[in-house]
Amino acid sequence: MAGRALLLAGPPGTGKTAIAMAIAHELGNKVPFCPMVGSEVFSSEIKKTEVLMENFRRSIGLRIRETKEVYEGEVTELTPVETENPMGGFGRTISNVVIGLKTAKGTKQLKLDPSIYEALQKEKVEVGDVIYIEANSGAVKRQGRSDTFATEFDLETEEYVPLPKGDVHKKKEVVQDVTLHDLDVANARPQGGQDVLSLVGQLMKPKKTEITDKLRQEINKVVNKYIDQGIAELVPGVLFIDEVHMLDLETFTYLHKSLESPIAPIVIFATNRGRCVIRGTSDIYSPHGIPLDLLDRLMIIQTTPYKVAEIEQIIKLRAQTEGLSIDEEAVASLSEVGSKTTLRYAVQLMTPAFQSAKVNGRTQIIKEDILEVNDLFLDAKRSSEFLQKSSKFMK
Ligand SMILES: Nc1ncnc2c1ncn2[C@@H]1O[C@H](COP(=O)(O)OP(=O)(O)O)[C@@H](O)[C@H]1O
Ligand SMILES: [Mg+2]
Repeated sequence: MAGRALLLAGPPGTGKTAIAMAIAHELGNKVPFCPMVGSEVFSSEIKKTEVLMENFRRSIGLRIRETKEVYEGEVTELTPVETENPMGGFGRTISNVVIGLKTAKGTKQLKLDPSIYEALQKEKVEVGDVIYIEANSGAVKRQGRSDTFATEFDLETEEYVPLPKGDVHKKKEVVQDVTLHDLDVANARPQGGQDVLSLVGQLMKPKKTEITDKLRQEINKVVNKYIDQGIAELVPGVLFIDEVHMLDLETFTYLHKSLESPIAPIVIFATNRGRCVIRGTSDIYSPHGIPLDLLDRLMIIQTTPYKVAEIEQIIKLRAQTEGLSIDEEAVASLSEVGSKTTLRYAVQLMTPAFQSAKVNGRTQIIKEDILEVNDLFLDAKRSSEFLQKSSKFMK
């Protein structure tokens, strides 16, 4: 999978960003998709290459299957036990917490460490919830509300889960989807140990700490080991870099190097530039502003302006998704406008056109509405013509 890269090149408004969004949608939520814009790398606080590397690792997923020793069940009881503060003073502290767990097979009462009480509070665990507690780390995961409570209210946002089968204390296969960036963050925490897996549970509390190249290499090593052992599986995702001509020579070089590494996502670039100067240099011209050696790796897909018939189709689809009613003649007229200006402009006219229809007491957009709003608003081309003519107004 290493180093596959694709370039979408074409004029503005030819659907490059739209294609990327469609890809993200198709991939679903189990495959990482990380969108960014070239200019994002320029920050006054973070190094350019660091921004790039972070997004690079956000685009690589890891599916980890672990068999864990857990206590699982519906919470029947949750009682913190308080004692006098051993250090003196008036405060009381929690010495332990007693929790009752129920499954289809039986019940069990556990006496747990106060740190687990904190974890239970963070997960907002209440009586009637189905949870599991990892035996070795004490991590608590709330799975949902027990479905015996499902009829309590008519309308709820809660997720209901069945009462777990088997014993309370058991071995359970847990599948987790994380990205390499998640692992970086989890392991950059100062109290972090060497074991990636044991830290996965801490992922929900990202903290601002340094992630170094050395740490990443360490993590790659552990990840590779887990892949070899069959515990984890690499899920190649997609890194989408829009307006890629905004990157400079340094970031391009870094990107090229990263693409060579065996653990790399699929990278999709998009640009609307033709031949131009590579940013960060004064006189190196290159197609799309991308250095030739990197360009050489890319499969290039040309996107071309939409034809009238295609614009028509897109307008109809848009109208459908936005719940706007528009007649055939208006679609044709709007497509005509779109082919002379841009697809984006045509799509943007739909909302005001609908307002115009409403003002005239209709629920359907007709040709007159299109002509009216096209008269009211200017596209970029007409606007610049207007500015040129009235030179005393603006220079
Ligand atoms: N195939 C398509 N279906 C629906 N809408 C589209 C399609 N292609 C482009 N669009 C719409 O057209 C406009 C311009 O497309 P965009 O992807 O932003 O162009 P680019 O990134 O090439 O400049 C956007 O509003 C987008 O939602
Ligand atoms: Mg775009």
